[in-house]
Amino acid sequence: MFDPKLDVSISEDDYSFESYTTEYQPPQESDYSTPYTSFTPPITTNNKLISKTESLKISIIGLGYVGSVSCACFTSLGHQVIGVDPELSKVNAINEGHSPIVEPQLEELLTEAHKSGKLKATADIEQAIHISDITLVSVGTPSKKDGGCDLSYLKAASEQIGHALAKKTSYHVVIFRSTVPPTTTNKILIPLLEASANKICGKDFGVCFNPEFLRESTAIDDFYHPPKTVLGSYDNKSIEFAKRLYKGVEGDIIHTSIEAAEFVKYIDNTWHALKVSFGNEVGRICKALEVDSHEVMDIFLQDTKLNISPYYLKPGFAFGGSCLPKDTRGIVSMAKELNVNIPIIEHINQSNHFHIAHTMNMIEQLPVSKVAIVGLTFKADTDDLRESPSLELLKQLLKKGYQVQFYDPCIASDIPLDMDPEINRQLNAARCNSLSRLTKINDAFVITHKKSYSEKIINNCSKDQHIIDVVHLTSTVRQSENYHGLCW
Ligand SMILES: NC(=O)c1ccc[n+]([C@@H]2O[C@H](COP(=O)([O-])OP(=O)(O)OC[C@H]3O[C@@H](n4cnc5c(N)ncnc54)[C@H](O)[C@@H]3O)[C@@H](O)[C@H]2O)c1
Repeated sequence: MFDPKLDVSISEDDYSFESYTTEYQPPQESDYSTPYTSFTPPITTNNKLISKTESLKISIIGLGYVGSVSCACFTSLGHQVIGVDPELSKVNAINEGHSPIVEPQLEELLTEAHKSGKLKATADIEQAIHISDITLVSVGTPSKKDGGCDLSYLKAASEQIGHALAKKTSYHVVIFRSTVPPTTTNKILIPLLEASANKICGKDFGVCFNPEFLRESTAIDDFYHPPKTVLGSYDNKSIEFAKRLYKGVEGDIIHTSIEAAEFVKYIDNTWHALKVSFGNEVGRICKALEVDSHEVMDIFLQDTKLNISPYYLKPGFAFGGSCLPKDTRGIVSMAKELNVNIPIIEHINQSNHFHIAHTMNMIEQLPVSKVAIVGLTFKADTDDLRESPSLELLKQLLKKGYQVQFYDPCIASDIPLDMDPEINRQLNAARCNSLSRLTKINDAFVITHKKSYSEKIINNCSKDQHIIDVVHLTSTVRQSENYHGLCW
Protein backbone atom coordinates (compact mmCIF):
# COMPACT_ATOMS: atom_id res chain seq x y z
CA MET A 1 0.00 0.00 0.00
CA PHE A 2 0.95 3.63 -0.26
CA ASP A 3 3.76 4.62 2.07
CA PRO A 4 3.50 8.35 2.77
CA LYS A 5 7.21 8.42 3.78
CA LEU A 6 8.20 7.75 0.21
CA ASP A 7 7.63 10.89 -1.73
CA VAL A 8 5.72 9.90 -4.80
CA SER A 9 2.91 12.23 -3.99
CA ILE A 10 2.35 15.33 -5.99
CA SER A 11 0.85 18.38 -4.42
CA GLU A 12 -2.88 18.87 -4.93
CA ASP A 13 -2.13 21.67 -7.40
CA ASP A 14 0.08 19.38 -9.45
CA TYR A 15 -2.78 16.93 -9.67
CA SER A 16 -5.31 19.35 -10.95
CA PHE A 17 -6.00 18.55 -14.57
CA GLU A 18 -7.01 22.17 -15.01
CA SER A 19 -3.32 23.13 -14.75
CA TYR A 20 -2.39 20.83 -17.65
CA THR A 21 -1.87 22.25 -21.05
CA THR A 22 -4.75 21.24 -23.29
CA GLU A 23 -3.11 21.89 -26.63
CA TYR A 24 -2.23 18.50 -27.98
CA GLN A 25 0.76 17.84 -30.21
CA PRO A 26 0.94 14.32 -31.59
CA PRO A 27 4.43 12.86 -31.16
CA GLN A 28 6.55 13.00 -34.29
CA GLU A 29 8.62 10.08 -35.46
CA SER A 30 11.69 12.28 -35.44
CA ASP A 31 11.13 13.06 -31.74
CA TYR A 32 12.26 9.57 -30.80
CA SER A 33 15.83 8.47 -30.65
CA THR A 34 15.00 4.90 -31.69
CA PRO A 35 13.69 4.77 -35.24
CA TYR A 36 10.33 3.10 -35.62
CA THR A 37 10.00 0.03 -37.71
CA SER A 38 6.36 -1.06 -37.77
CA PHE A 39 4.87 1.58 -35.51
CA THR A 40 2.05 3.68 -36.92
CA PRO A 41 2.10 7.11 -35.30
CA PRO A 42 -0.67 7.73 -32.79
CA ILE A 43 -4.09 9.09 -33.76
CA THR A 44 -3.70 8.44 -37.43
CA THR A 45 -5.99 6.13 -39.36
CA ASN A 46 -5.14 5.40 -42.97
CA ASN A 47 -2.63 8.25 -42.77
CA LYS A 48 -5.36 10.78 -41.92
CA LEU A 49 -4.98 12.61 -38.66
CA ILE A 50 -8.08 12.14 -36.55
CA SER A 51 -9.26 15.46 -35.21
CA LYS A 52 -9.31 15.44 -31.45
CA THR A 53 -12.60 16.79 -30.24
CA GLU A 54 -12.24 16.75 -26.47
CA SER A 55 -9.79 16.05 -23.72
CA LEU A 56 -11.14 13.64 -21.12
CA LYS A 57 -9.91 13.31 -17.56
CA ILE A 58 -9.04 9.68 -17.05
CA SER A 59 -7.69 7.75 -14.09
CA ILE A 60 -6.08 4.36 -14.75
CA ILE A 61 -5.94 1.96 -11.81
CA GLY A 62 -3.09 -0.55 -12.07
CA LEU A 63 0.12 0.33 -13.89
CA GLY A 64 1.14 -3.08 -15.15
CA TYR A 65 1.31 -4.11 -18.81
CA VAL A 66 -2.21 -3.00 -19.65
CA GLY A 67 -2.28 0.08 -17.43
CA SER A 68 1.02 1.61 -18.47
CA VAL A 69 0.31 1.12 -22.18
CA SER A 70 -3.15 2.67 -21.65
CA CYS A 71 -1.56 5.62 -19.80
CA ALA A 72 0.81 6.32 -22.68
CA CYS A 73 -1.71 5.82 -25.48
CA PHE A 74 -4.68 7.67 -23.98
CA THR A 75 -2.36 10.60 -23.22
CA SER A 76 -1.15 10.52 -26.83
CA LEU A 77 -4.79 10.87 -27.93
CA GLY A 78 -4.89 14.17 -26.07
CA HIS A 79 -6.55 13.06 -22.84
CA GLN A 80 -5.37 14.00 -19.35
CA VAL A 81 -4.40 10.86 -17.53
CA ILE A 82 -3.49 9.93 -13.98
CA GLY A 83 -2.19 6.42 -13.30
CA VAL A 84 -2.51 4.72 -9.92
CA ASP A 85 -0.53 1.85 -8.45
CA PRO A 86 0.55 0.88 -4.93
CA GLU A 87 3.96 -0.12 -6.35
CA LEU A 88 6.00 3.03 -5.94
CA SER A 89 8.64 2.01 -8.46
CA LYS A 90 5.95 2.04 -11.16
CA VAL A 91 4.52 5.37 -9.99
CA ASN A 92 7.99 6.92 -9.94
CA ALA A 93 8.86 5.56 -13.36
CA ILE A 94 5.74 7.12 -14.94
CA ASN A 95 6.34 10.42 -13.15
CA GLU A 96 9.89 10.49 -14.51
CA GLY A 97 8.73 9.74 -18.05
CA HIS A 98 10.01 6.17 -18.04
CA SER A 99 8.33 2.88 -18.71
CA PRO A 100 7.82 0.53 -15.74
CA ILE A 101 7.80 -2.45 -18.15
CA VAL A 102 9.68 -3.61 -21.24
CA GLU A 103 7.51 -2.95 -24.28
CA PRO A 104 8.65 -1.60 -27.66
CA GLN A 105 7.93 2.13 -28.16
CA LEU A 106 6.40 2.54 -24.69
CA GLU A 107 9.41 4.36 -23.22
CA GLU A 108 9.26 6.95 -26.02
CA LEU A 109 5.51 7.49 -25.66
CA LEU A 110 5.75 7.81 -21.87
CA THR A 111 8.61 10.30 -22.18
CA GLU A 112 6.47 12.32 -24.58
CA ALA A 113 3.44 12.04 -22.30
CA HIS A 114 5.54 13.23 -19.36
CA LYS A 115 6.86 16.19 -21.36
CA SER A 116 3.34 17.19 -22.39
CA GLY A 117 2.40 17.43 -18.70
CA LYS A 118 -0.74 15.44 -19.36
CA LEU A 119 0.30 12.25 -17.60
CA LYS A 120 0.90 11.86 -13.88
CA ALA A 121 0.98 8.87 -11.54
CA THR A 122 0.24 8.42 -7.88
CA ALA A 123 -0.39 5.81 -5.22
CA ASP A 124 -3.40 7.78 -3.98
CA ILE A 125 -6.51 6.33 -5.62
CA GLU A 126 -8.88 8.76 -3.94
CA GLN A 127 -7.10 11.77 -5.34
CA ALA A 128 -7.04 10.22 -8.81
CA ILE A 129 -10.78 9.52 -8.78
CA HIS A 130 -11.44 13.00 -7.44
CA ILE A 131 -9.82 14.74 -10.42
CA SER A 132 -11.03 12.41 -13.17
CA ASP A 133 -14.39 11.65 -14.80
CA ILE A 134 -13.61 8.19 -16.14
CA THR A 135 -11.71 5.42 -14.37
CA LEU A 136 -10.17 2.47 -16.20
CA VAL A 137 -9.42 -0.50 -13.96
CA SER A 138 -6.59 -2.78 -15.09
CA VAL A 139 -5.36 -4.50 -11.95
CA GLY A 140 -4.15 -8.09 -12.14
CA THR A 141 -6.53 -11.09 -12.03
CA PRO A 142 -4.04 -13.98 -11.74
CA SER A 143 -4.90 -17.69 -11.44
CA LYS A 144 -5.76 -19.12 -8.05
CA LYS A 145 -4.31 -22.50 -7.05
CA ASP A 146 -7.42 -24.25 -8.38
CA GLY A 147 -7.19 -22.42 -11.72
CA GLY A 148 -10.00 -20.02 -10.89
CA CYS A 149 -9.69 -16.27 -11.29
CA ASP A 150 -8.26 -14.43 -8.27
CA LEU A 151 -10.47 -11.38 -7.87
CA SER A 152 -8.85 -10.13 -4.66
CA TYR A 153 -6.99 -7.19 -6.28
CA LEU A 154 -10.04 -6.21 -8.27
CA LYS A 155 -12.34 -6.37 -5.25
CA ALA A 156 -9.93 -4.27 -3.19
CA ALA A 157 -9.59 -1.74 -6.01
CA SER A 158 -13.39 -1.57 -6.42
CA GLU A 159 -13.84 -0.84 -2.73
CA GLN A 160 -11.18 1.88 -2.89
CA ILE A 161 -12.86 3.40 -5.96
CA GLY A 162 -16.23 3.23 -4.18
CA HIS A 163 -14.88 5.05 -1.13
CA ALA A 164 -13.50 7.74 -3.41
CA LEU A 165 -16.79 7.98 -5.31
CA ALA A 166 -18.57 8.54 -2.00
CA LYS A 167 -16.87 11.92 -1.82
CA LYS A 168 -17.66 12.96 -5.38
CA THR A 169 -20.72 14.90 -6.41
CA SER A 170 -20.31 14.69 -10.19
CA TYR A 171 -21.20 11.70 -12.38
CA HIS A 172 -18.31 9.25 -12.91
CA VAL A 173 -17.90 6.15 -15.09
CA VAL A 174 -15.88 3.13 -13.98
CA ILE A 175 -14.67 0.93 -16.83
CA PHE A 176 -13.37 -2.49 -15.84
CA ARG A 177 -10.69 -3.82 -18.19
CA SER A 178 -9.21 -6.71 -16.18
CA THR A 179 -10.10 -10.17 -17.48
CA VAL A 180 -12.86 -11.67 -15.29
CA PRO A 181 -15.38 -14.54 -15.53
CA PRO A 182 -18.83 -13.47 -16.78
CA THR A 183 -21.19 -11.94 -14.18
CA THR A 184 -18.26 -10.73 -12.02
CA THR A 185 -18.96 -7.07 -12.83
CA ASN A 186 -22.72 -7.23 -12.25
CA LYS A 187 -22.75 -9.62 -9.29
CA ILE A 188 -19.56 -8.67 -7.41
CA LEU A 189 -17.94 -5.43 -8.56
CA ILE A 190 -21.00 -3.18 -8.95
CA PRO A 191 -22.40 -4.23 -5.54
CA LEU A 192 -18.96 -3.49 -4.01
CA LEU A 193 -18.86 -0.05 -5.66
CA GLU A 194 -22.42 0.71 -4.53
CA ALA A 195 -21.83 -0.43 -0.95
CA SER A 196 -18.56 1.45 -0.48
CA ALA A 197 -19.78 4.59 -2.28
CA ASN A 198 -23.25 4.42 -0.75
CA LYS A 199 -24.47 5.36 -4.21
CA ILE A 200 -26.51 3.72 -6.95
CA CYS A 201 -25.08 2.46 -10.20
CA GLY A 202 -26.95 3.90 -13.18
CA LYS A 203 -27.96 6.96 -11.20
CA ASP A 204 -24.89 8.34 -9.42
CA PHE A 205 -22.21 6.61 -11.45
CA GLY A 206 -21.91 4.39 -14.51
CA VAL A 207 -20.12 1.10 -15.21
CA CYS A 208 -18.80 -0.51 -18.38
CA PHE A 209 -16.72 -3.57 -19.13
CA ASN A 210 -14.14 -3.10 -21.86
CA PRO A 211 -11.88 -6.12 -22.46
CA GLU A 212 -8.29 -5.42 -23.45
CA PHE A 213 -6.96 -7.18 -26.55
CA LEU A 214 -3.38 -5.93 -26.65
CA ARG A 215 -0.54 -8.38 -27.09
CA GLU A 216 2.70 -7.82 -25.24
CA SER A 217 5.53 -6.79 -27.62
CA THR A 218 3.05 -5.19 -30.09
CA ALA A 219 0.88 -3.50 -27.47
CA ILE A 220 1.20 0.08 -28.78
CA ASP A 221 0.30 -0.84 -32.33
CA ASP A 222 -2.56 -3.01 -31.02
CA PHE A 223 -3.89 -0.03 -29.07
CA TYR A 224 -4.25 2.17 -32.16
CA HIS A 225 -5.25 -0.68 -34.47
CA PRO A 226 -7.20 -3.07 -32.22
CA PRO A 227 -8.74 -6.25 -33.63
CA LYS A 228 -12.00 -4.93 -32.14
CA THR A 229 -13.26 -2.59 -29.43
CA VAL A 230 -15.90 -4.19 -27.22
CA LEU A 231 -17.91 -2.23 -24.68
CA GLY A 232 -20.42 -3.87 -22.37
CA SER A 233 -22.45 -1.32 -20.46
CA TYR A 234 -24.68 -1.15 -17.42
CA ASP A 235 -26.87 1.46 -19.11
CA ASN A 236 -27.01 3.90 -22.02
CA LYS A 237 -25.50 6.79 -20.10
CA SER A 238 -22.40 4.73 -19.23
CA ILE A 239 -21.84 3.65 -22.82
CA GLU A 240 -22.24 7.17 -24.22
CA PHE A 241 -19.64 8.38 -21.72
CA ALA A 242 -17.27 5.50 -22.42
CA LYS A 243 -17.51 5.75 -26.21
CA ARG A 244 -15.77 9.13 -26.10
CA LEU A 245 -12.58 7.36 -25.01
CA TYR A 246 -12.19 5.61 -28.35
CA LYS A 247 -12.71 8.52 -30.72
CA GLY A 248 -9.12 8.41 -31.91
CA VAL A 249 -8.95 4.64 -32.24
CA GLU A 250 -9.51 2.65 -35.41
CA GLY A 251 -12.66 0.55 -35.97
CA ASP A 252 -16.23 0.55 -34.77
CA ILE A 253 -17.28 -0.11 -31.21
CA ILE A 254 -19.14 -3.36 -30.58
CA HIS A 255 -21.71 -2.51 -27.91
CA THR A 256 -22.93 -5.52 -25.96
CA SER A 257 -23.97 -6.79 -22.54
CA ILE A 258 -21.42 -6.71 -19.73
CA GLU A 259 -21.45 -10.54 -19.56
CA ALA A 260 -20.74 -11.01 -23.28
CA ALA A 261 -17.93 -8.43 -23.07
CA GLU A 262 -16.44 -10.27 -20.08
CA PHE A 263 -16.64 -13.71 -21.68
CA VAL A 264 -15.44 -12.89 -25.19
CA LYS A 265 -11.96 -12.23 -23.77
CA TYR A 266 -11.78 -15.78 -22.38
CA ILE A 267 -13.10 -17.19 -25.66
CA ASP A 268 -10.56 -15.22 -27.69
CA ASN A 269 -7.66 -16.41 -25.59
CA THR A 270 -8.86 -20.00 -25.48
CA TRP A 271 -9.23 -19.92 -29.26
CA HIS A 272 -5.72 -18.54 -29.67
CA ALA A 273 -4.36 -21.24 -27.36
CA LEU A 274 -6.31 -23.90 -29.30
CA LYS A 275 -4.94 -22.60 -32.61
CA VAL A 276 -1.36 -22.69 -31.35
CA SER A 277 -1.72 -26.19 -29.93
CA PHE A 278 -3.62 -27.51 -32.96
CA GLY A 279 -0.91 -26.18 -35.29
CA ASN A 280 1.72 -27.78 -33.08
CA GLU A 281 -0.08 -31.14 -33.02
CA VAL A 282 -0.26 -31.02 -36.82
CA GLY A 283 3.45 -30.15 -36.83
CA ARG A 284 4.35 -33.13 -34.63
CA ILE A 285 2.49 -35.61 -36.85
CA CYS A 286 3.95 -34.02 -39.99
CA LYS A 287 7.47 -34.34 -38.58
CA ALA A 288 6.92 -38.03 -37.82
CA LEU A 289 5.43 -38.57 -41.31
CA GLU A 290 8.23 -36.57 -42.95
CA VAL A 291 5.70 -34.17 -44.48
CA ASP A 292 6.55 -30.45 -44.53
CA SER A 293 4.27 -29.00 -41.82
CA HIS A 294 4.60 -25.43 -43.07
CA GLU A 295 3.70 -26.44 -46.60
CA VAL A 296 0.61 -28.26 -45.27
CA MET A 297 -0.48 -25.34 -43.09
CA ASP A 298 0.23 -22.75 -45.79
CA ILE A 299 -2.25 -24.58 -48.02
CA PHE A 300 -4.68 -25.02 -45.11
CA LEU A 301 -4.57 -21.25 -44.46
CA GLN A 302 -5.35 -20.40 -48.06
CA ASP A 303 -8.84 -21.84 -47.60
CA THR A 304 -10.77 -18.85 -46.36
CA LYS A 305 -14.11 -20.42 -47.26
CA LEU A 306 -14.14 -23.25 -44.73
CA ASN A 307 -10.89 -23.13 -42.73
CA ILE A 308 -10.14 -19.54 -41.78
CA SER A 309 -13.73 -18.33 -41.71
CA PRO A 310 -16.78 -18.16 -39.42
CA TYR A 311 -17.89 -21.51 -40.87
CA TYR A 312 -18.24 -24.35 -38.31
CA LEU A 313 -17.73 -22.01 -35.36
CA LYS A 314 -21.24 -21.15 -34.22
CA PRO A 315 -22.70 -23.38 -31.49
CA GLY A 316 -25.08 -25.96 -32.97
CA PHE A 317 -25.53 -29.73 -33.12
CA ALA A 318 -22.84 -32.44 -33.14
CA PHE A 319 -20.96 -33.07 -36.38
CA GLY A 320 -21.48 -36.22 -38.41
CA GLY A 321 -21.50 -37.49 -41.96
CA SER A 322 -19.13 -39.60 -43.96
CA CYS A 323 -15.92 -37.60 -43.45
CA LEU A 324 -15.43 -35.62 -40.22
CA PRO A 325 -15.72 -38.49 -37.68
CA LYS A 326 -13.90 -40.97 -39.96
CA ASP A 327 -10.96 -38.74 -40.81
CA THR A 328 -10.55 -37.52 -37.25
CA ARG A 329 -10.34 -41.17 -36.17
CA GLY A 330 -7.91 -41.76 -39.04
CA ILE A 331 -5.45 -39.09 -37.94
CA VAL A 332 -5.63 -40.34 -34.33
CA SER A 333 -4.82 -43.84 -35.54
CA MET A 334 -1.86 -42.53 -37.60
CA ALA A 335 -0.51 -40.67 -34.57
CA LYS A 336 -0.80 -43.79 -32.39
CA GLU A 337 1.20 -45.81 -34.90
CA LEU A 338 3.82 -43.07 -35.00
CA ASN A 339 3.89 -42.74 -31.23
CA VAL A 340 2.95 -39.08 -31.46
CA ASN A 341 0.87 -37.58 -28.67
CA ILE A 342 -1.99 -35.39 -30.00
CA PRO A 343 -4.45 -34.99 -27.09
CA ILE A 344 -6.53 -32.21 -28.66
CA ILE A 345 -7.24 -34.03 -31.91
CA GLU A 346 -7.66 -37.29 -30.02
CA HIS A 347 -10.50 -35.86 -27.92
CA ILE A 348 -12.49 -34.25 -30.74
CA ASN A 349 -14.76 -37.25 -31.33
CA GLN A 350 -15.25 -37.64 -27.59
CA SER A 351 -16.35 -34.01 -27.37
CA ASN A 352 -18.82 -34.70 -30.17
CA HIS A 353 -20.31 -37.65 -28.26
CA PHE A 354 -20.66 -35.44 -25.18
CA HIS A 355 -22.69 -33.04 -27.29
CA ILE A 356 -25.19 -35.78 -28.20
CA ALA A 357 -25.27 -36.80 -24.53
CA HIS A 358 -26.00 -33.16 -23.62
CA THR A 359 -28.97 -33.17 -26.04
CA MET A 360 -30.21 -36.43 -24.53
CA ASN A 361 -29.86 -34.96 -21.07
CA MET A 362 -31.92 -31.94 -22.06
CA ILE A 363 -34.75 -34.13 -23.33
CA GLU A 364 -34.65 -36.18 -20.13
CA GLN A 365 -35.23 -33.02 -18.08
CA LEU A 366 -38.55 -32.43 -19.86
CA PRO A 367 -41.90 -34.01 -18.91
CA VAL A 368 -42.15 -35.83 -22.26
CA SER A 369 -42.43 -39.45 -23.40
CA LYS A 370 -43.13 -39.14 -27.15
CA VAL A 371 -40.27 -37.50 -29.02
CA ALA A 372 -40.01 -36.75 -32.74
CA ILE A 373 -36.79 -35.96 -34.55
CA VAL A 374 -37.32 -33.57 -37.43
CA GLY A 375 -34.48 -34.31 -39.83
CA LEU A 376 -32.59 -37.58 -39.42
CA THR A 377 -29.62 -37.03 -41.73
CA PHE A 378 -26.56 -35.20 -40.38
CA LYS A 379 -27.63 -32.13 -42.38
CA ALA A 380 -30.60 -31.16 -44.54
CA ASP A 381 -30.81 -31.90 -48.27
CA THR A 382 -28.83 -35.15 -48.25
CA ASP A 383 -29.87 -38.77 -47.81
CA ASP A 384 -26.51 -39.71 -46.27
CA LEU A 385 -27.14 -41.19 -42.85
CA ARG A 386 -23.54 -42.21 -42.13
CA GLU A 387 -22.62 -41.26 -38.54
CA SER A 388 -25.60 -38.92 -38.28
CA PRO A 389 -25.86 -37.54 -34.73
CA SER A 390 -29.67 -37.33 -35.16
CA LEU A 391 -29.85 -41.05 -35.89
CA GLU A 392 -27.61 -41.70 -32.88
CA LEU A 393 -29.96 -39.59 -30.73
CA LEU A 394 -32.98 -41.51 -32.06
CA LYS A 395 -31.32 -44.81 -31.09
CA GLN A 396 -30.48 -43.54 -27.61
CA LEU A 397 -34.06 -42.34 -27.09
CA LEU A 398 -35.39 -45.70 -28.21
CA LYS A 399 -33.00 -47.49 -25.85
CA LYS A 400 -34.20 -45.35 -22.95
CA GLY A 401 -37.82 -46.34 -23.59
CA TYR A 402 -39.12 -43.20 -25.31
CA GLN A 403 -41.79 -43.55 -27.99
CA VAL A 404 -39.99 -42.10 -30.98
CA GLN A 405 -40.79 -40.89 -34.48
CA PHE A 406 -38.78 -39.17 -37.15
CA TYR A 407 -39.56 -37.15 -40.24
CA ASP A 408 -37.08 -36.77 -43.09
CA PRO A 409 -38.23 -36.37 -46.71
CA CYS A 410 -34.77 -37.31 -48.08
CA ILE A 411 -34.69 -40.83 -46.64
CA ALA A 412 -36.07 -43.56 -48.87
CA SER A 413 -38.29 -46.16 -47.16
CA ASP A 414 -35.95 -49.09 -47.86
CA ILE A 415 -32.81 -47.49 -46.45
CA PRO A 416 -31.33 -49.55 -43.55
CA LEU A 417 -31.13 -47.56 -40.32
CA ASP A 418 -29.11 -50.07 -38.28
CA MET A 419 -27.11 -53.26 -38.80
CA ASP A 420 -29.06 -55.03 -36.05
CA PRO A 421 -32.30 -56.32 -37.67
CA GLU A 422 -34.47 -55.78 -34.57
CA ILE A 423 -33.22 -52.21 -34.00
CA ASN A 424 -33.59 -51.58 -37.73
CA ARG A 425 -37.21 -52.75 -37.53
CA GLN A 426 -37.95 -50.49 -34.54
CA LEU A 427 -36.27 -47.49 -36.19
CA ASN A 428 -38.17 -48.04 -39.41
CA ALA A 429 -41.40 -48.26 -37.45
CA ALA A 430 -40.58 -44.77 -36.13
CA ARG A 431 -40.75 -43.24 -39.60
CA CYS A 432 -43.61 -40.78 -40.07
CA ASN A 433 -44.30 -39.26 -43.46
CA SER A 434 -47.17 -37.04 -42.38
CA LEU A 435 -46.31 -33.73 -40.76
CA SER A 436 -49.81 -33.31 -39.32
CA ARG A 437 -49.73 -36.78 -37.74
CA LEU A 438 -46.25 -36.15 -36.35
CA THR A 439 -47.38 -32.85 -34.85
CA LYS A 440 -50.51 -34.37 -33.36
CA ILE A 441 -48.86 -37.38 -31.68
CA ASN A 442 -45.66 -36.12 -30.06
CA ASP A 443 -44.82 -34.17 -26.89
CA ALA A 444 -41.45 -32.89 -28.10
CA PHE A 445 -39.77 -32.13 -31.43
CA VAL A 446 -36.01 -32.08 -31.87
CA ILE A 447 -35.44 -29.75 -34.81
CA THR A 448 -32.20 -30.69 -36.57
CA HIS A 449 -32.89 -29.21 -40.04
CA LYS A 450 -33.65 -25.55 -40.80
CA LYS A 451 -36.28 -26.36 -43.45
CA SER A 452 -39.87 -25.44 -44.30
CA TYR A 453 -41.09 -28.78 -42.86
CA SER A 454 -39.57 -27.83 -39.49
CA GLU A 455 -41.26 -24.45 -39.68
CA LYS A 456 -44.64 -26.09 -40.33
CA ILE A 457 -44.28 -28.24 -37.23
CA ILE A 458 -43.18 -25.31 -35.07
CA ASN A 459 -46.09 -23.18 -36.31
CA ASN A 460 -48.61 -25.91 -35.50
CA CYS A 461 -47.28 -26.84 -32.06
CA SER A 462 -49.39 -26.20 -29.01
CA LYS A 463 -47.97 -24.60 -25.86
CA ASP A 464 -47.74 -28.02 -24.19
CA GLN A 465 -45.50 -29.42 -26.90
CA HIS A 466 -41.77 -28.75 -26.55
CA ILE A 467 -39.41 -27.57 -29.29
CA ILE A 468 -35.80 -28.61 -28.82
CA ASP A 469 -33.71 -26.53 -31.18
CA VAL A 470 -30.21 -27.76 -32.10
CA VAL A 471 -29.76 -25.47 -35.14
CA HIS A 472 -30.44 -21.99 -33.67
CA LEU A 473 -33.82 -21.15 -35.20
CA THR A 474 -35.10 -17.61 -35.75
CA SER A 475 -35.34 -15.18 -32.85
CA THR A 476 -39.16 -15.27 -33.08
CA VAL A 477 -39.16 -19.05 -32.48
CA ARG A 478 -36.54 -18.67 -29.75
CA GLN A 479 -38.91 -16.46 -27.80
CA SER A 480 -41.78 -18.96 -27.63
CA GLU A 481 -42.71 -20.38 -24.25
CA ASN A 482 -42.17 -24.06 -25.06
CA TYR A 483 -38.79 -23.48 -26.74
CA HIS A 484 -35.47 -25.00 -25.57
CA GLY A 485 -32.17 -24.00 -27.20
CA LEU A 486 -29.43 -26.63 -27.12
CA CYS A 487 -26.56 -24.37 -26.07
CA TRP A 488 -27.83 -20.80 -26.18
N1 LIG B 1 -0.75 -8.45 -20.06
C1 LIG B 1 -1.50 -8.55 -21.12
O1 LIG B 1 -1.01 -8.67 -22.26
C2 LIG B 1 -2.99 -8.47 -21.01
C3 LIG B 1 -3.76 -8.35 -22.17
C4 LIG B 1 -5.13 -8.27 -22.05
C5 LIG B 1 -5.74 -8.33 -20.80
N2 LIG B 1 -4.98 -8.47 -19.69
C6 LIG B 1 -5.66 -8.50 -18.39
O2 LIG B 1 -5.54 -7.19 -17.83
C7 LIG B 1 -5.37 -7.26 -16.42
C8 LIG B 1 -4.06 -6.62 -16.02
O3 LIG B 1 -3.00 -7.33 -16.62
P1 LIG B 1 -1.49 -6.87 -16.51
O4 LIG B 1 -0.69 -7.85 -17.26
O5 LIG B 1 -1.40 -5.42 -16.83
O6 LIG B 1 -1.27 -7.06 -14.93
P2 LIG B 1 0.03 -6.71 -14.07
O7 LIG B 1 0.15 -7.73 -13.02
O8 LIG B 1 1.19 -6.45 -14.97
O9 LIG B 1 -0.36 -5.31 -13.41
C9 LIG B 1 -1.36 -5.15 -12.47
C10 LIG B 1 -1.02 -3.91 -11.66
O10 LIG B 1 -2.11 -3.63 -10.80
C11 LIG B 1 -1.58 -3.10 -9.61
N3 LIG B 1 -2.59 -3.13 -8.56
C12 LIG B 1 -3.00 -4.18 -7.80
N4 LIG B 1 -3.93 -3.76 -6.91
C13 LIG B 1 -4.13 -2.43 -7.14
C14 LIG B 1 -4.97 -1.44 -6.56
N5 LIG B 1 -5.82 -1.72 -5.58
N6 LIG B 1 -4.90 -0.19 -7.02
C15 LIG B 1 -4.05 0.13 -8.02
N7 LIG B 1 -3.22 -0.76 -8.61
C16 LIG B 1 -3.27 -2.03 -8.18
C17 LIG B 1 -0.37 -3.97 -9.35
O11 LIG B 1 0.54 -3.36 -8.45
C18 LIG B 1 0.21 -4.09 -10.76
O12 LIG B 1 1.13 -3.07 -11.04
C19 LIG B 1 -5.46 -8.75 -16.07
O13 LIG B 1 -6.79 -9.04 -15.74
C20 LIG B 1 -5.08 -9.44 -17.35
O14 LIG B 1 -5.62 -10.74 -17.44
C21 LIG B 1 -3.62 -8.53 -19.77
